This record gives sequence, C-alpha cells and structure tokens, in this order.
Amino acid sequence: MANIAVIGGQWGDEGKGKIVDLLSDRFDIVARWQGGPNAGHTVRFEGKTFALRHIPSGILREGVTAVIGNGAVIDPVSLLQEMAELEEKGIRVAGRLRISHRAQVILPFHRELDRVAEENPASPSIGTTRRGIGPAYMTKVARLGVRIVDLGDVEVLRRKMRSLVDGGFGAMLGAAASQAPEMLAEEFHAHGSSLASCVCDTSSWLGERLRAGARVLFEGAQGTMLDVDHGTYPFVTSSNTVVGSLFPGLGIAPRFLNGTIGVFKAYSTRVGAGPFPTEQAGEVGDRIRERGREFGTVTGRPRRCGWFDGVAARYAAGINGIDTAAITLFDVLDEFAEIPICVAYRWRGMELTEVPAEPWVSDEIEPVWEVLPGWRQPTSGARRIADLPTPARRYLDRLSGILGCEIGIVSVGADRTQTIVCSDSLWAENTKTGAGALP
Ligand code: GDP
Ligand code: IMO
Ligand code: MG
Repeated sequence: MANIAVIGGQWGDEGKGKIVDLLSDRFDIVARWQGGPNAGHTVRFEGKTFALRHIPSGILREGVTAVIGNGAVIDPVSLLQEMAELEEKGIRVAGRLRISHRAQVILPFHRELDRVAEENPASPSIGTTRRGIGPAYMTKVARLGVRIVDLGDVEVLRRKMRSLVDGGFGAMLGAAASQAPEMLAEEFHAHGSSLASCVCDTSSWLGERLRAGARVLFEGAQGTMLDVDHGTYPFVTSSNTVVGSLFPGLGIAPRFLNGTIGVFKAYSTRVGAGPFPTEQAGEVGDRIRERGREFGTVTGRPRRCGWFDGVAARYAAGINGIDTAAITLFDVLDEFAEIPICVAYRWRGMELTEVPAEPWVSDEIEPVWEVLPGWRQPTSGARRIADLPTPARRYLDRLSGILGCEIGIVSVGADRTQTIVCSDSLWAENTKTGAGALP
C-alpha cells in the first residue's frame, strides 16, 4: 500500500513520533495536518533524542520532505526556533519543509487568552498546554484569524490584528489586550520573511505529488480521545484529531489514503484534566510514570497514568477504521505481576461498553477489570514476537481482540531499534519513489 496515516488512539503521547520515524524511510513525504506546538513527538536513535513540536518527525530521515498543512496552527517564533534547533543538531530543514500559506498563526494574544481562560475560576480548567491552541482555532472559526499568507503584508497584518482586538476578543483579555497590535504586525511580518522560502500552497503541491506517485505518511498529533468532537469534551484539544480530519487539514482527496495505523500505549496516560476511568493515582500510577518516564514533552507536567482502557481504545479503533495497531511502551509493563485491562464501564449497576458522551456519567463510571498475568522479565531486547514471554504474547492477543485489528508493531523501548514488527502488510511494498523531492 502507498499512503498511510499514523494517529493516536488514546489521549496523546502514544509514541506516534517513534512510529512515524520508524516507517518514514519508506516514504517521500511526511505531512502533519492539525494541532501545533501543543504536540511533542519524541524520537530517539543513535543516542540522540529529538522532540518535534510543529515539524513532522519524518524530517529526521534524509530524503523526506516534511509538510505542515492548512489545518495546523503555527507559532512562528516557536517554529523558527524548532527549525534552528534541528539545524544545530545536524538535521537539514532548509529546502525540506513546506508550510501551507493557509495555516493559522498563533499570536502572543492567543497564548494570553489561553492563560486567562485557564486561570478564570468561573470556567473549568482544561489543563491546556497554554500554547494558544484553543484561542487560535477560536479566531479561525470566527473568521478573524491571521493566516501564514497574511504575514507577507504588514498592512493586512495591522488591520487583522486590530480587528481581532476590537472584534470582541480584546474584551475577553481585559488589561492584557493593551499589547499594541500594530507593533506586533511589524514583528510578525519579519517572522513571515524568515519563513517565506518554506511557504506555498501545500494542498495543490501535495495533490500533484500524490498523482505523480509519491508515498506519503500522514502524521497525526494528539489522540482520538482529545478530538474536539469525539473526545472527552470539554476536556479535549480544539481540533479534530481523528484520521478523517486529514483531508480538510491537508486539502487532499480521501482516495489517497490507503491505510491507518493506530498507536496505543500498552497502558493509558493523559495530561491535563478530564475523565480517565482507569487512572491509578497511587503506587501503581507512580511506578508506571517512573518506568515510562511519563512527563510531558511540551510542559514537563507529570502525566496521569493508569491501565489500558479497552472501551476507549475500541471506540478509537472504530472511529478511525484502524487497520493495524502499534502497541508502544510495552516494556513499561515488564515488572508487574498482574496487568488489569478495562473491558467495560460500570455505571449505577449497568455495564456500559461504549464511551459515554454525558459528563455526569463519565464522572461516575468505574472500570470492569479483566486481570491478565504479567511476565516479569525484560522485553526491551525482543526483536521478534517469538522472543516475548508467553504471558506478554497473551496480553497482546487480548489487545488485538479488543481493538478488532491486527497488531503490526510492538515497541519495547524508546530507541528506533527497540521495535518488533509483527506485520508489515500495510507498508511492505513501499519504497521511496523520489516523487516528493522539492525542486
Ligand atoms: P507522541 O506525542 O505520541 O509522539 O509521544 P511522546 O513522544 O510525547 O511520548 C512518548 C514517550 O515515550 C517518548 O518519550 C518516547 O521516547 C517514549 N517511547 C516511545 N516508545 C517507547 C517504548 O516502547 N518504550 C519506552 N520505554 N519508551 C518509549
Ligand atoms: P501529542 O501530539 C498529550 C492535551 C492537553 C490538555 C488538552 C487541551 O504530543 O500527542 P491544548 O493545549 O491542546 O488546548 O490542550 O489536550 N494535549 C495533549 N496531551 N499529547 C498531546 O500532543 C497533546 N496536545 C494537547 O494536555 O489536556
Ligand atoms: Mg507527545
């Protein structure tokens, strides 16, 4: 198969970066289509660690062109810094990155609004990354957003920044809005000049490359349970994260997608507030956090940890039509004698097998556990499924049964090499075609 999407099946941080990195040497282009610097995708190889925020993880592979699509929200200052950091580490970005001229720009104003909303005692704190993501999508939908294309014209920028503040959002900010929008216009015009060589109509470029036979890997950010429509609303991010969102987010046709890989941790984590039925707040949670180094890539916050939520994972597999699952951080479970999986939720004496939309139900549900034996031996050295102890294979079989799809990849460590590929039918025939290179 040719073009594949890699998406998060839980609450983000599933290890999408690692899986994308693993596969991207078989692709010409790696494209992201939503989110922004709220994402933190970590990749480790040859003793080096990279944390990507805006830029697709595929940039780390020579010969891959990286695309940031129109559905993304971009903080130019943070993106320029990310580009410089990669160049410093020996990764060539110049001439290998394309940014959509239609993508939205995150302004300092958006970050301020994010902070003010989070600190407002009258509304629930979501525990956002405070990168201005929600407010940037808010002004996009309100049709007041500044787009990358606008950075090229300082007059347009001045007008747009003024109408953002005068158009009602300034009132939400109160005193913080006094930051002169006109001055910001100059500054962002300069950022636009620094990015100009990367900016283009990525939708038509990608469409043309796809028709020419380029192999494209689509890199999702966040996870299905953080999707603004399908996640645990209102404790979600502000974009659609499910696989279907890649078509509007990149401006390409559905026929170009040939398969979807869903990435799931072997357990569950979430950062920020919101329902998390399988959370283990005590010693178990602490052990998972310690073993999995579960601290946010973006904010450094400790992640909430718990057992695998089979109800939420099956829901995610269904919504995204996942063909193959990648199970990550499998080694983190190595020391547990017993490993519970949540197979249903109990609510007021009833068993629920679907994720409830009602917040008052989510607040009250208790997991129904199925307890599997642990394996209590290290798995990080395993490179074939046969290298895994029998209880570990049984655990994977159970996950496969719950998800209703095959398990194609098991990740047993953060490094690129610490991976078991059990089924590569989705991408086995892929090789670079050379059709994704920039002129
Ligand atoms: P992403 O946002 O989905 O790309 O995931 P993050 O990079 O935010 O978080 C995943 C973390 O787990 C990163 O620190 C990875 O280096 C690490 N990681 C990925 N796969 C494995 C694995 O199989 N085992 C262990 N121990 N760590 C892993
Ligand atoms: P990656 O791509 C984990 C969470 C935040 C918060 C909620 C809303 O690395 O998997 P936002 O700043 O987006 O308005 O925050 O969503 N969140 C993530 N959690 N991984 C991410 O990205 C996340 N991006 C946002 O913690 O709960
Ligand atoms: Mg992450």
